[in-house]
Amino acid sequence: MATLVEIEEVTRRDFYSNAKDYWSEVPPTIDGMLGGFAFISQRDIKGSRLLLKQLFHSVKPPDRKFALDCGAGIGRISKHLLLDLFEKVDLVDQNQTFLNQAEKYIGPGLVHKVGNFYCSGLQDFEPNPGKYDVIWMQWVLGHLTDSDLIKFFESSKKGLKPNGVIIVKENVTSHDKVELDEKDSSFTRPLGMLKKLFSLANLECYRQVKQHDFPNSLYSVYMFILKPIDEKFVTSEKNNQNAEIKESTVVEAQYADESNEETSIHHNCITSDIGNTSSDELPVS
Ligand SMILES: C[S@@+](CC[C@H](N)C(=O)[O-])C[C@H]1O[C@@H](n2cnc3c(N)ncnc32)[C@H](O)[C@@H]1O
Repeated sequence: MATLVEIEEVTRRDFYSNAKDYWSEVPPTIDGMLGGFAFISQRDIKGSRLLLKQLFHSVKPPDRKFALDCGAGIGRISKHLLLDLFEKVDLVDQNQTFLNQAEKYIGPGLVHKVGNFYCSGLQDFEPNPGKYDVIWMQWVLGHLTDSDLIKFFESSKKGLKPNGVIIVKENVTSHDKVELDEKDSSFTRPLGMLKKLFSLANLECYRQVKQHDFPNSLYSVYMFILKPIDEKFVTSEKNNQNAEIKESTVVEAQYADESNEETSIHHNCITSDIGNTSSDELPVS
């Protein structure tokens, strides 16, 4: 069993400044963004594109006007995915060098579709209310503490337009413990913990898909489509649980490990694998 942990303010500041230092040494290249695994980029984008296409064919699809790329780095996902599928895209990252490179990497053919390059840590960033159809968060949420992540989910919910969704694509551990990487100052969370955090932010996991075709040496990678739960229907029990989490310093909220539930429907979260599968074979609600 893992535990949600709120860390002391001093530790929190070090956690963010260490990550900033780490990324300041990383070259602004695809290999830099992917820790030496540039060759998985195309497969990653292919899996993400399939997920978005299915979403666009669902009953209440998001509009395709404005997306936000969180922890965008040099704009790999914006260039190869979001700018192709949305009219406009904003990028946010804590590293200005990466954003400068993003402008060049995205290139003159597409850069006019970029709205803003925001330089900010997600822990300090609030999307403009009601602006986005899709808020994409990939390989960055491990750089946020649990409470900052819940806070960022909450403000991202406010940043969505009607039918808008948050899409999370992250590594998950193969066991039920949180792993801290002191080198880049990030957490890798178990599947159950990510789902707990979604639920604490009143986000419904509408769809969960495992990315296939990545090297076995890497963590498993999951994509989640998250929709805001209508606050009117949130039970008072859940509100109490939220209040407890926000008030305590060390939170004892234990959660069950759900990492073995890849083939089940859980919390309204339709689970499936993606990669070798064609889009027609996957259920879309
Ligand atoms: C592993 S790279 C992923 C980049 C991009 N999402 C992709 O998949 O190509 C992580 C990115 O997160 C950014 N990052 C790290 N901590 C962050 C934070 N607290 N807020 C915003 N961005 C952060 C880094 O600067 C880096 O660009």
